[in-house]
Amino acid sequence: MTMDNPPPESGLEVLLTSSQIAERIRELGEKISSDYQGRTPHLVGVLKGAWIFMADLIRNLSIEATVDFLGIQSYVAGTTSSGEVKIAKDLDVSIAGRDVLVVEDILDTGRTCLYLQGVLLAHQPKSLKLVTLLDKISRRAVAVKADYVGFQIPDVFVVGYGLDYNQQFRRLPDVRYLRHVARV
Ligand code: IMP
Ligand code: MG
Repeated sequence: MTMDNPPPESGLEVLLTSSQIAERIRELGEKISSDYQGRTPHLVGVLKGAWIFMADLIRNLSIEATVDFLGIQSYVAGTTSSGEVKIAKDLDVSIAGRDVLVVEDILDTGRTCLYLQGVLLAHQPKSLKLVTLLDKISRRAVAVKADYVGFQIPDVFVVGYGLDYNQQFRRLPDVRYLRHVARV
């Protein structure tokens, strides 16, 4: 048994293998390093889902980057976010005048991101961009677009690689989908 081939968890199907994820993050790292050449982007990871992605992304950058984290709690009805967001952990360092790159695990309706963009822009960064590992573009309810996208995925509820369902499955090395999740 290898890490690419973990034991099956019941009811979960693999959507993206760990090698597909690793390869795509290498490409994202190259692109971001080239776009930010001569600058030091400030990566702001959105906890908790994005921390594993951010750890792999930063190791694929060939330029210096600084990091900070924002902890948020989205109020969720079933598996859909309501857009009501609470900052559970604020930034430690000022982002004024910085080239901020927000690192997200997944864009779904876009409500969480839209809220975060408003909060961050109020602190007057020099630039503000967004990288998301996963994008469920068909689910978008508000106008939010990521500057860098790992994978466009269909409308399924995914877990693993940091993403959870009721705090479960973050440890999985790949991205899997739940076959039986009723949307509310
Ligand atoms: P949005 O506000 O609808 O874009 O939702 C964003 C947040 O909802 C993400 O940061 C995740 O925490 C959560 N989320 C949305 N879709 C999924 C999914 O398929 N799996 C796990 N979490 C999800
Ligand atoms: Mg999240």
